[in-house]
Amino acid sequence: MKKNPLGKSKLLVSPITFGAWAIGGWMWGGSEKKDSIRALHACLDHGITSIDTAPIYGFGQSEQIVGEAIKGKRDQYEIMTKAGMRWKNTLGEYFFTTTDNDGKQREVYNYSGRDSIIAECEDSLRRLGTDYIDLYQIHYPDITTSIEEPMEAFQTLLDQGKIRAAGVSNYSLDQMKLADGAVLLSSNQLPYSMVRREIEEDIVPWCLENSCGILAYSPLQRGLLTGKITADHSFAPGDTRPDTPHYKRDNLVKINQFLDDIRPLAEEKGATLSQLVIAWTLRQPGITVALVGARNETQVIENAGAASVELSESEVGMINAKLETLKPKLEIE
Ligand SMILES: NC(=O)c1ccc[n+]([C@@H]2O[C@H](COP(=O)([O-])OP(=O)(O)OC[C@H]3O[C@@H](n4cnc5c(N)ncnc54)[C@H](OP(=O)(O)O)[C@@H]3O)[C@@H](O)[C@H]2O)c1
Repeated sequence: MKKNPLGKSKLLVSPITFGAWAIGGWMWGGSEKKDSIRALHACLDHGITSIDTAPIYGFGQSEQIVGEAIKGKRDQYEIMTKAGMRWKNTLGEYFFTTTDNDGKQREVYNYSGRDSIIAECEDSLRRLGTDYIDLYQIHYPDITTSIEEPMEAFQTLLDQGKIRAAGVSNYSLDQMKLADGAVLLSSNQLPYSMVRREIEEDIVPWCLENSCGILAYSPLQRGLLTGKITADHSFAPGDTRPDTPHYKRDNLVKINQFLDDIRPLAEEKGATLSQLVIAWTLRQPGITVALVGARNETQVIENAGAASVELSESEVGMINAKLETLKPKLEIE
C-alpha cells in the first residue's frame, strides 16, 4: 500500500489506518484480546502500517494491546495516539460519565493543561512500550484551556523527540487555525463517512489550501456501511451504537436501501461493500487517511483490500448523486 505524506510533517502514513477504539472494548460491548493482537499483526502483512489509538479506548486497554502487538517490530508501524481526555482527575471541562470494561462508573473530562499533556505522554509511551509516538493528537478541544497551551506542550515533546508530529482531533476550523499558529499542525482527525460529510463545508477546503492532513474517522459509520447492520441486528451489551443517530431504525432502513443501490457497483469491481465504501472515502478531496476500525484479522484483510479498488470519476459521481438523494431522508439531529 503506497503511503501518504501527512500534511507538512515528515511522516508517511498508510492511507488505510487501523483504528484501535473497538479493541479497547469500551463502548463496543467488549473485545477479544487474542483477536485484537492477530488483527494488529495482520495489518503489517497487508500494508496497514499506521495504527490510531487513545488512552480513553478501554481506559488504557487499547494502548496496552497495541504495545503488546508491536513489540519487536515497533519501527515497522506508525503509532498515533491522543491526549486530553482524562478520567483520573476533574480538571477541565466535564465531558460525560460512562461505564468502563469492569462496570465501574467513570467521569471523563477534557483537559489540555501543559503539565497534564506532558504527563499523559509518559503514560502512553509506557503503555505502548515505545520511546516515541509518531502522531500525537489532542482528542477533543478543552474550552477551559487556551488552544495554544497544549500545542506548546506538543512543541516541547517534538523538541525532545518523544513525538514526531502534532495533530488535533474534533477541532473546528477556527480552533485549527489557532493551533496551527502555535505548532506545525500536521492533521485534524474528524468524523467523515458517506453519511456524515459536514467537514466538506469548511475544514476540507482549508486543509487543501494549507497542506494539512485529514484523518477520516468512522468511515464505515461504525460498521453500518458494511451492509451487515440491518434493523434486526443484535448488539452485545455495552455496545453504544444503537443509541447513535445513524442507527435509529428509520435511518438504518434508508441507509441499507442506499447500500443495496451501490452493491452492484461493488460486485462489478469484485469488491465488497466495505471495500467500496473505504475506496470512496479515499477518493474524496483532502482525505489523507481512512481511519477504519476492525476487531479481527478477517476484517483487517478485507479493509486493506480497499487500497486496490479503483473508482473512476463517473463512479464516484454516481455514488455522490445517490447520497444527495439519501441525505434529506435521514433524521440526524
Ligand atoms: N477522534 C475521535 O474522537 C474518534 C471517534 C471515533 C473513532 N475514532 C477513530 O477512528 C477509528 C475508526 O472508527 P470506528 O471504529 O468508530 O468506526 P468504523 O471504522 O466506521 O467501523 C469499525 C467497526 O466496523 C466493523 N467492521 C470493520 N470492518 C469490517 C468489515 N470488513 N466487515 C464487517 N464489519 C467490519 C467492526 O465492528 P463490529 O465487528 O463490532 O461490527 C469495527 O469495529 C476508531 O477505531 C478510532 O481510532 C476517533
